[in-house]
Formats: sequence, structure tokens, C-alpha cells
Amino acid sequence: MKRIVILISGRGSNMEAIAQRCAQERWPAQVVAVIANRRQAAGLDYARMHGIATAVVDHQRFSTREAFDSALAEAIDAHRPDLVVLAGFMRILGDNFVRRYEARMLNIHPSLLPAFPGLHTHRRAIDAGCKVSGATVHLVTPQLDHGPIVIQSVVPVLPDDSEETLAARVLATEHRIYPQAVQWFVRGELQIEGGVVRHRGGASQLLLQ
Ligand code: GRF
Repeated sequence: MKRIVILISGRGSNMEAIAQRCAQERWPAQVVAVIANRRQAAGLDYARMHGIATAVVDHQRFSTREAFDSALAEAIDAHRPDLVVLAGFMRILGDNFVRRYEARMLNIHPSLLPAFPGLHTHRRAIDAGCKVSGATVHLVTPQLDHGPIVIQSVVPVLPDDSEETLAARVLATEHRIYPQAVQWFVRGELQIEGGVVRHRGGASQLLLQ
């Protein structure tokens, strides 16, 4: 049984999608904890209601990134994770933290990486006149929103899209590709070769909407 720890900062809809599919589809895994950096993170309520352990490591209580990172690592390690899942976790993590969970930490980013790392991805995609956008699940490396790509979803950018309508279209695909990526990981179906992640059975790592 693989142990999954999920980190959130807010709503937690990706965390919910992963926890639901993990339980419903009886993956060889369990979401053992949900950890937030904000006490008000709405996703904590879902976790509590579903009997998942929760913890809060409030970044505001720490004067340095290193101090926050080590408190966070302590909270995570208490649950002995095989996989750490960043699901809308809005803190930049230091190199040492990232190395500690090397090859066992996933992130989702709402753009077609390597385009638009960082914030305001939907605004930037619209302003650049992009005709497609999407989301990327990747293994976390020290460089922000970078790292071997596990799966991507692609959606159209429509002429009258606002940031909100595009975000909603992308989010619906996040809820499909993130559980898929986590399921592959816990089943040991992924391999990395030369910085490229491949599904051992040749499953499609692309969701086209
Ligand atoms: C998602 O769009 C995710 O890609 C981005 O932040 C949002 C988090 O949403 N990093 P939720 O908290 O999973 O609902």
C-alpha cells in the first residue's frame, strides 16, 4: 500500500479528485494526510470529513524559507509518504526540500509547460493569443514549474474566453489527469529515461479535449 501525502493551499478540488478515485477504484494506495500552509484552506474540511489526517504548517510563523521547509518536511515525514502530491500548493519550495522528495513528488500546473511557469497562467495564455492551453502534471525539480512531464491535457482557448472561463475548462481536465498520474505512480507504471517520463504500458500521456 503506497502512502500519499497531499499538500494544498486553498480549495483542494484536485486533492478531492485524487482522494475520491483512490478510494473508489481501490488503488494500491491511501491518502494518509492532507497538509496545508493556511489554516483556512477549504480543502481541509473535505479531508476531515473523510477521515484523512490533516495538519497545518503556517508559513507566516516562520521567518525563513528554510525554517518553513524543514517544519513542513517534518509534518510530511510523520506520515512516511511514498508520494508527495502538490495540489494547488502555493509556496515556492527550497532546493533541499525538493531533493528530499526527489522522484516521489508531483505537481500540477495550469499551463502547457514549459510555457507559462509561475502565476496568472490563463491571463498570460489569453494575452499571448494562444489557441490552446491546458495543464501539466510533472515530477518536481528545484526549478519552479519544471521537471519531467507525466501527462498533459489540452483545451481550446475560445475567442471570448475570460481568465475564469478558461480556468474552469482547464480545471475540469486537471481533475482527470492528476488522478491518472497518481494512479500510474502508485502502480509503478512510470519510468524516467533521460529526463522523459514514459508509461511502461504505452498508455497515452495526453488528454485532448
Ligand atoms: C489548480 O488550477 C492548480 O493547477 C493550480 O491551482 C489550482 C488549485 O485548485 N496550481 P484546487 O485547490 O486543486 O481546487
